[in-house]
Amino acid sequence: MSTTHNHHFKRQIHYLLAPIVTIVAGPQKVKVLVIGGGGREHALAWRLAASPSVTELHCAPGNPGVINLGTCHSSTDYVHLAEHLSIDLTVVGPEAPLVAGVVDQFRALGRPIVGPNAANAALEGSKVYSKRFMDKLGIPTARFETVDSAEAARAVFPKFRYPLVLKTDGLAAGKGVIIAQNQAEAEDALTQLAYPMVLEEFLEGEEVSFIALCDGKTAVALEPSQDHKRIFDNDQGPNTGGMGAYSDSRILTAEQRSSILETVILPVVRATQFTGFLYAGLMMTPNGPSVLEFNVRMGDPETQPLMMRLNCDWAEALMASARGALTGNDLRWNPNPATCVVLASEGYPGTVINNRLITGLDKTQHCQVFHAGTRQTEAGIVTAGGRVLGVTALGKTLRESIDNAYAGVAQIHFDGMQYRRDIGFRGLRRLQ
Ligand code: AMP
Ligand code: GLY
Repeated sequence: MSTTHNHHFKRQIHYLLAPIVTIVAGPQKVKVLVIGGGGREHALAWRLAASPSVTELHCAPGNPGVINLGTCHSSTDYVHLAEHLSIDLTVVGPEAPLVAGVVDQFRALGRPIVGPNAANAALEGSKVYSKRFMDKLGIPTARFETVDSAEAARAVFPKFRYPLVLKTDGLAAGKGVIIAQNQAEAEDALTQLAYPMVLEEFLEGEEVSFIALCDGKTAVALEPSQDHKRIFDNDQGPNTGGMGAYSDSRILTAEQRSSILETVILPVVRATQFTGFLYAGLMMTPNGPSVLEFNVRMGDPETQPLMMRLNCDWAEALMASARGALTGNDLRWNPNPATCVVLASEGYPGTVINNRLITGLDKTQHCQVFHAGTRQTEAGIVTAGGRVLGVTALGKTLRESIDNAYAGVAQIHFDGMQYRRDIGFRGLRRLQ
């Protein structure tokens, strides 16, 4: 038997025996590696550290918030790291390693990992690919045209009304979308965004982040959440990576959730054997949900409130995804809502000023402060990026979770600190 076959054979046996071992010996004990170093990864690591089945937690690169939970590593050779540390389960936070094929590398060695392969990561990596794919599968999305040049774009302008949405093809960290109010702005966008480009109709409604954990055959929905993409209160100013998020069960009814799972998520899973997190950015239009974008990972900052609400052994559910063994009944949630307020650096979302001392981190109560752009120095923890911290809290009501989060925010200070004062308020208005 060749080494590869032998390896494959051992893997098969391992997969077949795993459920029996679980019944006889209780939950499997696992060593976990989280790839990434932002607020999302701190929240993932924090929940994993509380999982009964996790014996060791590693993060690459991690951040100062993760240091108290496990070991941080600077290596970007994730496969080597996992081999060296005998990691049982790896979870990928950001999209870049997924697009670069980290899942393919792990799978070639038979190492369990949560995430899509590089081919499926293109759903996020390329808007043109993702729109054509949705069209082919009949997944509801805004009517669109793809163009390779300014002339081609001008030729299809008459097919649209204003506002018109223009999107660049590749990964752009939330900065590749322009909503043009008139033809002059559309002309301007043609010079600002790279080609190829997607032009699409503007949709109105409430945005919802719908994330599902997939195992190649089936999928289980996480609780719904809502992001706040603009930098200023009342959704004013430029787009950011996300200035805050809340998760509340009432965002979607049970019927809406199962319909989104059936019409948006499962068609993708069935057509591509999708594994890992599939995040549909939805617009809830009067004609039903419509997909604005697919991401192939969890959202940041949506992960922060979601991890506060998760109420089961996270590592066990993730292992089921990596093994193709989801049952559809793998997750349990705290019914109470959670809210995350992002504290950002001066200058964000443009060029930021770093190295500002952060005070008050030890004074917060009734909340979790997830680190993102922070750095440990001899003087203390300083700012080191655009989004610095995500102050996240549960509450018996949405209002209480918002108040708890802002009470935490009030304890924290760094020069130039920016944050929105209205995170969750859309939810307060809409959800009665
Ligand atoms: P995307 O990167 O495709 O999610 O776009 C970023 C943001 O632009 C979304 O979160 C929406 O707020 C807005 N957006 C994108 N596409 C549309 C659309 N077709 N209609 C209205 N708003 C949109
Ligand atoms: N919060 C939006 C995203 O993670 O893409």
